[in-house]
Amino acid sequence: MCGILGYIGKEQVAPLLLKGLEKLEYRGYDSAGVAILDGERLNVTKTKGRLKVLSELLKQGKEIQGTVGIGHTRWATHGEPSDVNSHPHLSESGKFAVVHNGIIENYLHLRDFLADNGKKFLSETDSEVIAQLLEYYDTGDLLETVIKVKEKLEGSYALGIICRDNPDRIVAVRKDSPLIIGVGRGENFIASDITAIVSKTKTIIRLKDGEIAILEAENIKLYDKHKTELKKDISTIDWNISEAKKEGYEHFMFKEIMEQPKVIGDTISPRIRDEEIILDKINLSKEYLENINKIYIIGCGSAFHVGCIAKYIFEKLLRKSVEVDIASEFRYRDPIVNKDVLVIAISQSGETADTLAAVRESRKLGARVLSIVNVVGSSIANESDDVIYTWAGPEIAVATTKAFSTQLAIVYLLALYMSKKLGKIENKDYFEYIAELLSLSSKIETILKEKENIREFALDHYSTEDVFFIGRNLDYALSLEGSLKFKEISYIHSEAYAAGELKHGTISLIEKGTLVVAIAAQDALVEKMISNIKEVKARGARVLGITTQKNADIKKVCDFTFCIPEICNLLKPSLTLIPLQLLAYYVASERGCDIDKPRNLAKSVTVE
Ligand code: AGP
Repeated sequence: MCGILGYIGKEQVAPLLLKGLEKLEYRGYDSAGVAILDGERLNVTKTKGRLKVLSELLKQGKEIQGTVGIGHTRWATHGEPSDVNSHPHLSESGKFAVVHNGIIENYLHLRDFLADNGKKFLSETDSEVIAQLLEYYDTGDLLETVIKVKEKLEGSYALGIICRDNPDRIVAVRKDSPLIIGVGRGENFIASDITAIVSKTKTIIRLKDGEIAILEAENIKLYDKHKTELKKDISTIDWNISEAKKEGYEHFMFKEIMEQPKVIGDTISPRIRDEEIILDKINLSKEYLENINKIYIIGCGSAFHVGCIAKYIFEKLLRKSVEVDIASEFRYRDPIVNKDVLVIAISQSGETADTLAAVRESRKLGARVLSIVNVVGSSIANESDDVIYTWAGPEIAVATTKAFSTQLAIVYLLALYMSKKLGKIENKDYFEYIAELLSLSSKIETILKEKENIREFALDHYSTEDVFFIGRNLDYALSLEGSLKFKEISYIHSEAYAAGELKHGTISLIEKGTLVVAIAAQDALVEKMISNIKEVKARGARVLGITTQKNADIKKVCDFTFCIPEICNLLKPSLTLIPLQLLAYYVASERGCDIDKPRNLAKSVTVE
């Protein structure tokens, strides 16, 4: 997720862009830049680092003239944070400047095509391809050129474009990434979200997918890909700045829960081309994979829970031994790690001290380390042999949601990729799993549409004092995350327990009114779960069951049941996760907790 801003009018644009980009820093803050037209001179200033670095470079905007410009705050996905990877990107001759938010899924193919036609690239980004394509397909007619290029792009994009030969225009285009036009008096704006322009205008046009806008100081026109002029759908917003950052949601956590269908799609679909899994630059050879005798998965908190789920997935698909460890334990227990062990480190921030130390320890012991990280260019990413990035965008809420679900998506992709390499999976099964992975976004969407059912349950149970999350197999691994999500934001004590283990002691804690959340989605274990639910019911527990429609018998024994859409057993955690996140959120919300910044917690634990 990046921040985009553009202005055309009478004011000097540099200080205005810097001020507006400040409001967009939450969308991306590893680098920033501006492109400004002063007559037919197109100047680009961009730099790695926070916005203040750019502001100092521009002397707070005082030294650069021009009343037309575009700006960008970056959240790196392709190419680590650096000056050259920052936006705006210029075409080779400097004629076009582009800022981009989104992922161009076919950028490698386009880059090869352009390189074969003599284009030289400066950056590692997918976005630079757009600037070069504009120059390659330039017909002299700006709208026509933009339409030609737009038709070549696959993936998601919100674009701001300026052109040296058209100093009185800004072009805006979008597909799957938000882009808003701000309508002013004698001036007009583009922005990736309202925060950047709400102090200037509350009259907006929400650009729709496929629409192309041409902004002049006194005029805005919308076109479709046939150059047909479209009706402008103008509206007025009444948000204040802080609400706009959360795009109208009350909390970042809820916004991030709701973003999951999109970010799961962003993380999975660019890595599946022609039904094959392409894991960026990862190349784990068959020989290497055959030689590893153990996979070690390390992480902290929720990242550790992803590892607990991953253990079942890797062992089933690879038939190799998998050990999962809390990073702070791993690093002090003299682990049996050597060159025949693959260590997988999972971390949203990429800066968690214990996980970073465990990565260093693993490499010292001769193991290859592959990390699954959300923050591009973070320490864990930089110190791993291989890294696969989740493309979840910045996760602001301390309690992780979309980063967790995209980490899990990467686990599925990686496990299938390795299983195929090892020849451990039939093609039929491989393609079925890929099809199921590609259905995740829409199935999560379906669950989110029923969120009110979870909210109603939460309203009846937010004053409970003790909660147990129980499950078996993958459902037990996921119950660990359900319990952590619940307690870390609601401050209610909760515990995750293997359902088959309760009778070995802990069931003594179950009494009248104790809340039990039973995750019972694994088909083969439903009967066992029904027995375990009956055990706790017999002691007075109230039970929320999470299962699938197919396992309707669960409904007969639970007080309340939430059903997820059908999907293969291996991928069910990606779906049963969602009601658990919603339950935690609604209970904490009802209790008036500080949901985005729970007490005692930090977003990234960079100390031991
Ligand atoms: C999860 O909701 C917590 N915020 C916490 O457990 C977190 O997962 C843990 O600190 C690991 O952080 P990381 O993924 O950035 O390494």
